[in-house]
Amino acid sequence: MAAQNNAPLPDGLEIAGYRIVKKIASGGFSIVYLAYDGDGVAVAIKEYLPSSLALRQEGELVPTISKAHLPVFRIGLKCFFEEGRALARISHPNVVSVLNFFRANDTVYMVMAYESGHSLQEHIQRQRAKGSKVGEAFIRTIFLQVLKGLREVHANKLLHLDLKPANIYLRTDGTPMLLDFGAARQTVNNDLPTLTPMYTPGFAPPELYAKAGGLGPWSDVYSIGASMFACMAGAPPQPADQRKTGDKMAGHFDKLEGQYTPELVKMVRWCLALDPLERPQSLFALQKVLQAAPAAPAAPPPPQGVLDRLGAGWRGLVGRLGGQDQSKPQAKAGPDTLI
Ligand SMILES: Nc1ncnc2c1ncn2[C@@H]1O[C@H](COP(=O)(O)OP(=O)(O)O)[C@@H](O)[C@H]1O
Ligand SMILES: [Mg+2]
Repeated sequence: MAAQNNAPLPDGLEIAGYRIVKKIASGGFSIVYLAYDGDGVAVAIKEYLPSSLALRQEGELVPTISKAHLPVFRIGLKCFFEEGRALARISHPNVVSVLNFFRANDTVYMVMAYESGHSLQEHIQRQRAKGSKVGEAFIRTIFLQVLKGLREVHANKLLHLDLKPANIYLRTDGTPMLLDFGAARQTVNNDLPTLTPMYTPGFAPPELYAKAGGLGPWSDVYSIGASMFACMAGAPPQPADQRKTGDKMAGHFDKLEGQYTPELVKMVRWCLALDPLERPQSLFALQKVLQAAPAAPAAPPPPQGVLDRLGAGWRGLVGRLGGQDQSKPQAKAGPDTLI
């Protein structure tokens, strides 16, 4: 991801009834601030500011966008707005809570309930620094809740499409919530290369690399498997496009045997099947495996034909502006075309 080079809003700034306390994070597309609302309640405000398109110097509030970048900036802005609007419909303890969004400074701001904690990615890194692994009981507990949140997202006919440990946030009470439905950025027409697609190598399913689409709940299932793998191995799986030509995952899975129960390793393998039809066909199937006591019998093979029931009508945040075909995947995916 491109680094965020823009100046953040100054600490103490009053904006739309909120007072900015400080910047808490920034990525290539946005800056996240801790702020207080009029009642003194802490919120997290995410500001749309793609660093490749917008320039904001120290002391300025409104970013400068060149004429050439303006159309792409506006499409991205619409996607960001869609992200907020879609999320605002979802109310679930395991999904970040969007409270408001507003326009100011020629851009858009999404206001979320502020949660103190850290990302699962940071947790993995801390464990690795200590020379230890993320334990199985922790993985089962966290991902059971993550799946509950994701079921709610899917029940709203939305896909996350950028699931990874950095977007799974662990509150200080230990409960996880899904963050960053910013995959909406990818909606942008492929002919407009300046707003680069943001799939994350290792966590993105193979169908996300393909222009033809074929995205569905199975795509988030791949990323769930990849995130669990990252917890277990301490590193992301081999990127899906590389796996298509020289899959090295079997060896990595073998290394996990003995450290984790065969049921868990089998489940992660199952989620990470390159062919979407060979992945678990429902989140419920995954929940059942995670809930089972570790010594329980191995997970059943994926039921056939369930995709037919899931296939129609899915709208990821990706594809909202028509960039992707949301139809169900074919049994054999076509040749990969990098976006
Ligand atoms: N609601 C929130 N409460 C607390 N921190 C948050 C919240 N939303 C985002 N953050 C912080 O900002 C970081 C980046 O947020 P995210 O939505 O993933 O944006 P990005 O598009 O930059 O990845 C998170 O890892 C987290 O540290
Ligand atoms: Mg993120």
